[in-house]
Amino acid sequence: MNIHQLPTPLFIAHRGYSACYPENTLAAFNGAIDAGAHMIELDVCLSKDRHLVVIHDETVDRTTNGTGAVKALTMDQLDRLDAGSWFDPRFNTERLPTLAQVLDAAKGHLLVNIEIKPEAFEADGPADAVERQVLNLVRGKNMLDEVLVSSFEWQMLENLRKLEPGIALGLLAEAPADERLIHWYQRINGFSWHPDFRVLTRQQVDSLHDLGARVFPYAVDGRIDSLGMLAMGVDGLIVDDPRQMTARQP
Ligand code: G3P
Ligand code: CA
Repeated sequence: MNIHQLPTPLFIAHRGYSACYPENTLAAFNGAIDAGAHMIELDVCLSKDRHLVVIHDETVDRTTNGTGAVKALTMDQLDRLDAGSWFDPRFNTERLPTLAQVLDAAKGHLLVNIEIKPEAFEADGPADAVERQVLNLVRGKNMLDEVLVSSFEWQMLENLRKLEPGIALGLLAEAPADERLIHWYQRINGFSWHPDFRVLTRQQVDSLHDLGARVFPYAVDGRIDSLGMLAMGVDGLIVDDPRQMTARQP
């Protein structure tokens, strides 16, 4: 599948198939592939030794058997943590994957929405800044046409745009689209807008479509809300349970 030839609606598995598997693990991403999702969404942070690690929170406390800030732990330390038992003991062999491992698992199967967490932003833009690392990795795997990079930290998206004219960029936002968002969308030559579905209206969808943006709301929970969003004309949904919409049985 190619990011520039998307099916509509696009079903994006939030942190993988996180309704049935421990979020942001290879089990969750492989589960999303089996469920028929078109794209996986994942969260990227930096380890202490500056590896790209896939985890949502600033600390490992909620989703592993360890404690402490992700950026205070080396990749070797992170790799020893159990990232599955908190969800269900049968997932006790799951580890925190690197972004490279997830891209390898996804390649040729589905697209990848890489959310770079705001905590990984470094205003002084070092040569190995997280956005440069992500871009180099995606290029190295020849997956520029298979990924979308999103963030609540719009400056990182602008940094990426300056580095790579061809990468698809999605603006994440908790608030309704306003002049500031539209300014940033145009400034970064955006690909999509990812709003919290609770702030979305049909008028907002229409306004963003007028700009050429795809609209992919997140936090859509359940079939009723999903159908409501689709009736509003969105282009895809970021959901914990992609099977609910694809209806493909495990
Ligand atoms: O990408 C959309 C969504 O993942 C943003 O919220 O907190 O789940 O990363 P969060
Ligand atoms: Ca996310």
